[in-house]
Amino acid sequence: MTLSTCAQDGFPNSRIVLLKGFDKRGFVFYTNYESDKGKELAANPNACLLFYWHPLQRTVRIRGKVEKTSEQESDDYFGSRPLKSRLAAIASNQSSVIPDKECLQMRFTKLLEECDEDASVPRPLHWGGYRLTPTSIEFWQGKSLS
Ligand SMILES: Cc1cc2nc3c(=O)[nH]c(=O)nc-3n(C[C@H](O)[C@H](O)[C@H](O)COP(=O)(O)O)c2cc1C
Repeated sequence: MTLSTCAQDGFPNSRIVLLKGFDKRGFVFYTNYESDKGKELAANPNACLLFYWHPLQRTVRIRGKVEKTSEQESDDYFGSRPLKSRLAAIASNQSSVIPDKECLQMRFTKLLEECDEDASVPRPLHWGGYRLTPTSIEFWQGKSLS
């Protein structure tokens, strides 16, 4: 889904994130709290989610406010991720400028070498979930006019 946030320079900011859960409380995604989106949501929790299904000619637009998921919920989801995904979350300082791709790859490889397959890798505190509680949901449906 596309997640749009309000940046502090007044411009909207959008990026793709994975919807990892939804229920009556709202829509959950996970990210790095120190990323651009994390900083933007800390300053302004208003956000918008957009889903687009090209073959169905359908969009769903959801506007609302986000809150961090509980520590327990974030721990549970982080713990359910494959080892390499957990290490990648630790290796990547999301949204920050890096000298080159190799330095990120080296950080990841070092972490991988340092732990074994069943190692418990604790969730870094700067990584976790957000839940967007909707204030409005719009369903748009296109159709062929021929
Ligand atoms: C298919 C796809 C799924 C993605 N899922 C996530 C995700 O669940 N969480 C996340 O933080 N970034 C995800 N990303 C990366 C983001 O789009 C984005 O590049 C990154 O989070 C940094 O965004 P920011 O600098 O605006 O904070 C995904 C990218 C793609 C293409």
